[in-house]
Amino acid sequence: MQSSKMGVVATLLVGLVSLTGSALAQTSPVQLTPLPSWAYPWVPDFKLPPDDGIPRRVPDSTVTHTVTQERDLFFAPVWHQADHPALPEVVARGRKPDVRACGSCHRAEGTGGPENASLAGLPAAYIIQQILDYKSGARKFSGPQRSPNVLMTAIAKGMNDAEIQEAAAYFSALKPKQNTTVIESDTVPKTFIVRVFVAKLPGNEAEALGRRIVEFPVDVDQFEHRDTRSKFTAYVPIGSIAKGEALVKTGAQGKTMACATCHGADLKGLGDIPSIAGRSPSYIVRQLYDLQQGTRAGALSAPMKLVVEKLTDQDMMSIASYLATQTP
Ligand code: HEC
Ligand code: HEC
Repeated sequence: MQSSKMGVVATLLVGLVSLTGSALAQTSPVQLTPLPSWAYPWVPDFKLPPDDGIPRRVPDSTVTHTVTQERDLFFAPVWHQADHPALPEVVARGRKPDVRACGSCHRAEGTGGPENASLAGLPAAYIIQQILDYKSGARKFSGPQRSPNVLMTAIAKGMNDAEIQEAAAYFSALKPKQNTTVIESDTVPKTFIVRVFVAKLPGNEAEALGRRIVEFPVDVDQFEHRDTRSKFTAYVPIGSIAKGEALVKTGAQGKTMACATCHGADLKGLGDIPSIAGRSPSYIVRQLYDLQQGTRAGALSAPMKLVVEKLTDQDMMSIASYLATQTP
């Protein structure tokens, strides 16, 4: 309640500023919406336990990898070879010193996780443009400068044209997977932050959900092994899905615009415009926020400006909740 009021007040203030002249409006920092801080879990000095040398496995695979391999950003674990084509070099190993293997963070099958982005099935031209936007600095990040994001920028800066083409061709040809179950609830299992993602605490303790989304892997070990078959649960406030659906489908009387116009009737993308269906709700909220704040201002970002301009953090959360229920 409090924060949505603040959003309305801030919208009015920005409206006033733009009346006073466009030069002033351009230099004034946008302060529309408070940072949805739940979407940016981050414990920079989180200590990972040392490698115990025991080979790790995941369900329905005979492959083993060591913890050291799994933590190596120049190595993408492949657990289910039959699920996807052979990985090109840039996805499997990258190139030292800067270009970490795309598959190590985004997973061999491009499924990604709440801490980064799913890439499977995104248009190749869109992927290429995003890498160029990270490279040029046009696409940055709000909130704490979390290490995977900082590395993504360094990786883009290090990539050559052939690597960009190769990675875009590989990920765009993959089929995206629905891996998130959305649950509307007043309460949520107790969780804690593991460096850059949220995990469920052992046991059955619950706490109030409040006005946030809590998204975590169903099996935290499988997730840490970077298994592309990992599943996620997202707890969202009661009523979020219906509110999100109204915003997405109708634009809610000019508050935003109907997403299907540009993202396609099924929201799975249209031409060079990316899919927004069935993707991590934490990721979606970070992007809506970045686009609103202008921290993400890439070559293709302009059409999104009117879409996000008047959204409160609660609206963003509702939109992301609804989108996560859609088939990717
Ligand atoms: C260290 C982890 C890490 C590695 C390795 C990595 N990325 Fe990323 N990537 C991220 C994060 C985190 C984001 C989300 C950043 C944001 O919020 O804008 C991201 C976002 C992206 C996006 C934007 C997706 C979208 O929907 O707009 C693309 C494209 C991308 N990465 C491509 C690549 C490619 C290609 C490689 C391999 C050369 C790669 N990444 C390697 C962490 C990583
Ligand atoms: C006028 C066309 C247009 C409309 C309407 C539109 N979008 Fe977009 N959207 C785009 C374009 C173009 C991009 C790529 C932006 C970029 O590259 O920075 C995009 C990107 C996005 C992204 C980032 C995706 C990613 O992979 O990082 C999200 C999230 C998004 N849109 C959500 C929405 C939602 C939700 C709606 C409806 C409420 C909507 N969009 C309506 C054109 C549109």
